[in-house]
Amino acid sequence: MKLLGLNREEVKQVFKEGKVTITVYGLGKMGLPLAAVFADHGAKVIGVDINERVVEMINRGENHVKEEPGLDELVKRNVEAGRLRATTDGVEAAKQADVMVILVPTLTDERGNLKLDPVYDVAYKIAQGLEKGDIVITEATMPPGTTESLVPILEKSGLKLGEFGLAHAPERTMTGTAIRDITGQYPKIVGANDEKTLEAVIGIYETINRKGVIPMSSIKAAEAVKVFEGVYRDVNIALANELALWCEEHGLDALEVFQAANTQPYCHLHMPGAGVGGHCIPIYPWFVINLARKTNPRLIKTAREINDSMPHHVVELTIKGLNEVGKPLKGSNILVLGLTFRGGVREFTKSPTIPIIRELKEWGANVYAYDPLCTKEDAERFGAEWKEDFKDIDAIVITTDHKEFRNLDLEKIAKEARNKVIVDGRNVLEPTTAEKLGFVYLRVGRA
Ligand SMILES: NC(=O)c1ccc[n+]([C@@H]2O[C@H](COP(=O)([O-])OP(=O)(O)OC[C@H]3O[C@@H](n4cnc5c(N)ncnc54)[C@H](O)[C@@H]3O)[C@@H](O)[C@H]2O)c1
Repeated sequence: MKLLGLNREEVKQVFKEGKVTITVYGLGKMGLPLAAVFADHGAKVIGVDINERVVEMINRGENHVKEEPGLDELVKRNVEAGRLRATTDGVEAAKQADVMVILVPTLTDERGNLKLDPVYDVAYKIAQGLEKGDIVITEATMPPGTTESLVPILEKSGLKLGEFGLAHAPERTMTGTAIRDITGQYPKIVGANDEKTLEAVIGIYETINRKGVIPMSSIKAAEAVKVFEGVYRDVNIALANELALWCEEHGLDALEVFQAANTQPYCHLHMPGAGVGGHCIPIYPWFVINLARKTNPRLIKTAREINDSMPHHVVELTIKGLNEVGKPLKGSNILVLGLTFRGGVREFTKSPTIPIIRELKEWGANVYAYDPLCTKEDAERFGAEWKEDFKDIDAIVITTDHKEFRNLDLEKIAKEARNKVIVDGRNVLEPTTAEKLGFVYLRVGRA
């Protein structure tokens, strides 16, 4: 049933009655939880993905996004109930849908240039199935202005904007908490092309989100909200890293200073560390930088530079730690703990571990790696040899805050390792415990 023209209460009613068909394009870490939640609230959901393996799994009721608590059950229940199915045919899905949601990757290349091909690919497919009264919603994080740039493509359907609705409702979550966040951790941000579309889209998200909706004055303002959230994190992490480097120079422990400073309500110093990874925080600043015309976003560019320099600093700390035990980095055995970009998630995009391994090897170190969420093949892919013990190791470099690393058996390591050096790039260990066992313990902001 078409929703354009209904008020939010009418939308909620027809949604729950199972009269709305929603297509979600992109069934990844964000798209599959959203598709399953829509289905669980009564919609008929067609998920579209270019990955045939993903589509086949979902149609068998299986979840391929392993780090998402509750998603196995949600997918199984809704596939079995006939409310959720998947396909690779994006045009056919668009023909059947009343609402089309775009949740495919939005990335940049190494130089920060936008890579939006998946979004445009989906828009072309939607255009071939778009009908009067349909609503297209982008949920992928969009460089501000991108959603409206889809209008000429969508109008290839023969319809004019207004006959169909267009909105942006950014996904405000992360892997591991998607279901919780989608259904009520934060209010949903929504911007639309007109009042009619805004009203209907508010109805859609009020159906699934207990925290409700914050309507924005425009699509572009809604896009900016999500992008700015990421920029805020990046800039503030860079500030924490810069102050941590200053603390090293002045013999201070940055964490001690930060924790005390943060007891004042206007101070929110973030955690310094080995660098910023993932496909959100290091990517979104480029959306702002690349779209700046008259303004020069110097602070945002500098923050990116600082955060990108942290893996190199971790290598410097490793050299320093080895110096203290009389070893050069060349020929030393280094065990890197953590391949993924953050704890508890099997994701490698822009993981700071990758440049750390590369640089350690350039210095002539023998680099080993271990990660509780990874395999031997993952380690080899990034140039390290898999190692599950500490025998003959000269230095341990912790690059990911997996919970397993907080409970490392330091007594066992002290016995097994050849030299006792720890570089804690994620502040997961208690310095005094390590130092009492004779380790040289270094971390960003406390060298
Ligand atoms: N992962 C996060 O923590 C997170 C958080 C907030 C926002 N986001 C944003 O959500 C969006 C999606 O991210 P994700 O983490 O779900 O990505 P993902 O890589 O986990 O999944 C993307 C899915 O889209 C599919 N896909 C790619 N091109 C396609 C196309 N042309 N047509 C149909 N399917 C296609 C892929 O096969 C994959 O299954 C991005 O814009 C991202 O920035 C992600």
